[in-house]
Amino acid sequence: MAGRVLVIGSGGREHALAWKLAASPQVKHVFVAPGNAGTASQEKISNSEIPVCNHAAVVQFCKENDIALVVVGPEAPLAAGLVDDLTSAGVRCFGPTAKAAQLEASKSFAKDFMDRHGIPTARWKAFTNPQEACSFITGADFPALVVKASGLAAGKGVIVATDKSEACKAVQEIMQNKAFGAAGETIVVEELLEGEEVSCLCFTDGITVAPMPPAQDHKRLMDGDQGPNTGGMGAYCPAPQVSENLMQQIQDTVLQKTVDGMRCEGAPYVGVLYAGLMLTKDGPKVLEFNCRFGDPECQVILPLLKSDLYEVMQMTIEGKLSSSMPAWHRSYAAVTVVMASGGYPGDYSKGLEITGLSKAKEFGLQVFHAGTALKDGKVVTNGGRVLTVTAIKSDLTLALEEANKGAAAIHYPGAIYRKDIGYRAIAFLKQSSG
Ligand code: AMP
Ligand code: GLY
Repeated sequence: MAGRVLVIGSGGREHALAWKLAASPQVKHVFVAPGNAGTASQEKISNSEIPVCNHAAVVQFCKENDIALVVVGPEAPLAAGLVDDLTSAGVRCFGPTAKAAQLEASKSFAKDFMDRHGIPTARWKAFTNPQEACSFITGADFPALVVKASGLAAGKGVIVATDKSEACKAVQEIMQNKAFGAAGETIVVEELLEGEEVSCLCFTDGITVAPMPPAQDHKRLMDGDQGPNTGGMGAYCPAPQVSENLMQQIQDTVLQKTVDGMRCEGAPYVGVLYAGLMLTKDGPKVLEFNCRFGDPECQVILPLLKSDLYEVMQMTIEGKLSSSMPAWHRSYAAVTVVMASGGYPGDYSKGLEITGLSKAKEFGLQVFHAGTALKDGKVVTNGGRVLTVTAIKSDLTLALEEANKGAAAIHYPGAIYRKDIGYRAIAFLKQSSG
C-alpha cells in the first residue's frame, strides 16, 4: 500500500526531496512543512503549516494523516532532536538523532571526534576565552587561519583570515561582538587548508556506507569565486576531480571511519552524512560534517539517483543498505544554478513577481523553488536564495549551458545568478584530455 510522507523544510533541497519522493510508486502524497510556492503547486505534493519546532504537534499531524515516513531536510530540527521525539512516539523518521547530529551542531565535538578516530582534518584548537584564543593565534606555526563559531550559525559562522591580526579580529567579532550569537560561545581556530573543495555524501544505516557521486558547491556570490560567501550559488555532480580511487580513499578514511566511530561511541549515525572536504596536496581533509543533504548539492545529486528514494530511505532506517545499495545514473551530469535576490547575502526585498517559470519547464529543466511564495495566485520572491534551475545532460558543459538558458528565461527585479557553475571541472576535464 502506498504511503504518505512528510518532508520538513522550505528550501530548494526540500523541493528536490519532495519531487524525488513523489516519483515513487510507493508514495501516495508528500506534505512539505512549511514548503514554498514550488511544493504548493506540484502533483502529489502540498504544503502544511505545522509548527515544526513543536515536536508534539508534528507527532499529532503524523498520526492524524497516517504518515509512513518523515524526512528532515535542515540541520536545526535534527540538532533539536526531532528524529528522537518522532521515533519514540512510533513515527518512522529519516535522519540522525540529536546525539549523532552533533557532528554538525558542534564543530568542537566534530574536531575532537576526528582526532579520536584518526580522520584527516586541519590542525585546530577550541576556546571559550578570547584572550587565550588570541595568544594561541599569535604563537601558531600556521600563517593563515580560519576562525569558526562551534555551534550552528546557518552556514555563516566561519571567518577565513588571511593573517594573524585578521584572525584575532575574527575572534573578537565572534566572542565579544557575538556576531553569531550563542553559536560563538565556543570557537574553533584551525589552520587554513589549500586545495579544491568537494562535497562527498553518503547514505548510511549506521554500519554500511553507500556513497553518492561527489559534488561541488560554489559558495562565493560571483563568477570566478569572487565576492562574499553565501549558502551556495550552484552545484554540479559528479565532480570529475574525485577519481574512483580518490572516492574509495574518502570512503575508507573519512565516511566509513566516521560511521564506525559514531557507532562505537554509542551514537549510531543513520541518515545522510555529508563530508565537506578540501583536496589538499597531502590528501583529502575534512572541513566540516553536515548531518543532512547539502543545499544546492541535493538538487544535482537526487536527479542522478536511479533507485527509488523512498525505498532507499526505508532500507537505511531498517539497517538493510548492504543488501540493497542505491543505483546511480552514471552517464549523466547535473548542474544547478541558484537564482538569488538582489542584495543577497545581505538585505534584499521580498514579494517581487517571478515570471518565465513555464519557459524553463518547456526547456525540459527542473526548477526547484527555495525562497518563493504564492501571493494572489502569483509566484513571488520570499527569500535570499529564490530558486535553483537544474539541467541533466550527457556532459557537464551541455548541462551548464542548459541551466544558464533556463535561468536567463526566468525574471524578477534584481535577480542574480552565477554563469560559471562547474568551471573548475570543465578546466580539469580539458587539462586531463589535452
Ligand atoms: P565550514 O562551515 O566549516 O565548512 O566552513 C565554511 C567554508 O569556509 C568552507 O566551505 C570553506 O570554504 C571555508 N573553510 C572552512 N574551514 C577551512 C579551512 N580549514 N581552510 C580553508 N577554508 C576553510
Ligand atoms: N551547500 C553547503 C551546505 O548545504 O551546507
